[in-house]
Amino acid sequence: MYTTLVSYTILAVTVSSGTLNLDQGYRNTTEFAAEHGITAKEYKVVTKDGYILGIFNLPGTRGLPILLMHGLTDSSDTWLIRGNISLGITLANLGYDVWLGNLRGNKYSREHTRLDPERDAAVYWDFSFHENGYYDLPATIDLVLEKTGASQINAIGHSQGTTIFFVLASLRPEYNEKVNLLVAMAPVAFLQYVTPPLSTIIKVSPELINFGKRLKQYEIFGESITGKAYREVCLKPTIGYLLCAYGYIFPVAGYDVKEYGYKFHYMLTRQFPMSTSLKNLEHFAQVSRRRSFSAFDYGRIGNLKVYGTPSPLNYDLKKTTMPVAILCGESDKLATFKDVLLLKDALPNIVQFSVVDHNHMNHVDFTWGKTMDKYLYPYIFGILDRFGN
Ligand SMILES: *[C@@H]1O[C@H](CO)[C@@H](O)[C@H](O)[C@H]1NC(C)=O
Ligand SMILES: *[C@@H]1O[C@H](CO)[C@@H](O)[C@H](O)[C@H]1NC(C)=O
Repeated sequence: MYTTLVSYTILAVTVSSGTLNLDQGYRNTTEFAAEHGITAKEYKVVTKDGYILGIFNLPGTRGLPILLMHGLTDSSDTWLIRGNISLGITLANLGYDVWLGNLRGNKYSREHTRLDPERDAAVYWDFSFHENGYYDLPATIDLVLEKTGASQINAIGHSQGTTIFFVLASLRPEYNEKVNLLVAMAPVAFLQYVTPPLSTIIKVSPELINFGKRLKQYEIFGESITGKAYREVCLKPTIGYLLCAYGYIFPVAGYDVKEYGYKFHYMLTRQFPMSTSLKNLEHFAQVSRRRSFSAFDYGRIGNLKVYGTPSPLNYDLKKTTMPVAILCGESDKLATFKDVLLLKDALPNIVQFSVVDHNHMNHVDFTWGKTMDKYLYPYIFGILDRFGN
């Protein structure tokens, strides 16, 4: 805790005059795919509430289409960023028809039919994982089904990329029919057993969030001031790695130092973190503090207006009737083992539950682990073979 605080202090002090070209070295999903001889096709889909999402397809013919959904402040890049062992590349090379989603607000999904993310910031960024699950995910699934002519997809989600399936299934249960299988990696519905520093941050989050609102910082990370400051610090040679890996990534995700790595840090930091909304962070903090997987809490009067009840509605996990295979890590500090067990007990159709057999398996090894092809993929391929069609 102490070292983390010291890191944050140094981090705050280090935010200084900009000398780095922050765009240098950035590669997009199309470019990553092209490096492996894969031509990614980009599609746009408009959600019912006007957000325009960028969806990528790495075409293939094997089995049902597989939709990969990224986690919080992440993007479709995450599935390609580890080169030829990345999950997206690996599945495409095996002949699967791979679809990469992008949630509203990130680099590929910033457009809107009416709103501008900067000019109309207060309205544009007024969303959380609730809208991601209610609008973005069904629009994405329907696009994949429409373009492929399939009647079902297989899905692999990471972290918040699983949360949105639970929201969708609870609010629009008819979508259960469209998902043949969800591989839920480091799944998040409960956050009551997180430990410091995350639990400490969550405890003080109301003050931080009010501060952000007063400064009108509705967008967090990505291209916003917070995102630029993060990259400014974290891209500095040596000190950037020490501060950001040891001051942020490991304390939040868990310590699996070897699987992350110095060089990877600098590549990753060109791509990550992408934008999310302040409201989304507030919503996750509420889930943790209220110890329940519920919709956004607007306070008594606000809730009466929005939900007709003094408390926000609870997402009913029993309505996730699609088959779910859970993969979790023993050293994951975000999707902690105890929280994942709560989820496991609440879901009605678990087809497999596995703790990945890798020492120090943390939250981000699922997408960024240097040798995840060795310890993680056997589980994924096994699940796809057994339940994928
Ligand atoms: C990716 O980058 C290339 C080269 O800069 C550009 O032509 C292309 O439009 C970009 N694609 C996306 C989806 O951002
Ligand atoms: C990935 O590329 C490296 C270096 O080119 C090569 O040695 C390795 O066999 C490749 N791995 C896979 C899974 O294709």
